[in-house]
Amino acid sequence: MKHKSVLMRELMTIVQPQKDGVYVDMTLGAAGHTKILLDLSNPTGRVIAFDKDKEAIKNGEKLKEQYGNRLILINDDYANLEEHLNRLCINSVDGTVFDLGVSLDQLKSDRGFSFNIDAPLDMRMDQSKPLTAEMIVNHWDMEEIEKILSLYGEERFARRIARAIVKQRPIKSTKELADLVEQVVPRNVSKKIHPATRTFQALRIVVNDELESMRIGLRAAVKRLSINGIICVISFHSLEDRIVKQVFKDCKQKGVLRLINKKPIRPSPEEVKNNRRSRSAKLRCALKIKAEEKND
Ligand SMILES: C[S@@+](CC[C@H](N)C(=O)[O-])C[C@H]1O[C@@H](n2cnc3c(N)ncnc32)[C@H](O)[C@@H]1O
Repeated sequence: MKHKSVLMRELMTIVQPQKDGVYVDMTLGAAGHTKILLDLSNPTGRVIAFDKDKEAIKNGEKLKEQYGNRLILINDDYANLEEHLNRLCINSVDGTVFDLGVSLDQLKSDRGFSFNIDAPLDMRMDQSKPLTAEMIVNHWDMEEIEKILSLYGEERFARRIARAIVKQRPIKSTKELADLVEQVVPRNVSKKIHPATRTFQALRIVVNDELESMRIGLRAAVKRLSINGIICVISFHSLEDRIVKQVFKDCKQKGVLRLINKKPIRPSPEEVKNNRRSRSAKLRCALKIKAEEKND
């Protein structure tokens, strides 16, 4: 199965790529959004696409044959957007899109992102970084583990799970961890989702420092949008959506952004039927109407 890009039609209706436009795809992944941005901005629009996962960039390289230097690939954290735009001598861009979280390629890999595939507890998007999920699970204090499960997984049973982890470690694989969580979370609680979903989400967020990257990346994206440029963000859980809302609200209060949709755009029932991953997606978009003050 291939990664299916989420909310593609809705996103493009809002961005409306133009032939002389410059766009940033902060999360290349399987390149679905990048490709449509390039196709709709044919023949001269440009796309700068980030991914901190080398594998995603390697796959993206194949697109260079078709799109040539209209596509610029950057293997780095999108938090470093400004540094790269400066290097490329690009002052401002016409549209920036974020499609947060993991791609199907990552979920299907043996890199520990999914509890459905037995693999070492790694979870790093950027394999050059030192921290893995295995290190957290086997070496952090119980209190620290409880704290991250509670903060980043919004897990009601954080203490119970943390205690069980510390008692049973070393825990080396995704399956061992998922089985352990399943044993300690009461049966009737997680009917819709696997009981280990929140634990895996918390570990992934910490390993990849996801929320901090988001805060920095969103601010940088707003700053480097041209006037009338558009920023669109697809989030998949409440912690991500909360940060998007906060940053957009703050920029709106400063008169820098105008919200395009007050309520988030959700996928149609048809999309959810065809792509289960889309069921929790929320799209928020905003238009840049004024440059920030120097000390904003
Ligand atoms: C959901 S996928 C994107 C899918 C893509 N929009 C598509 O249509 O195929 C998210 C991707 O963003 C990357 N990513 C997540 N956080 C990142 C960050 N802070 N910097 C760079 N890439 C990041 C992940 O490695 C993953 O490949």
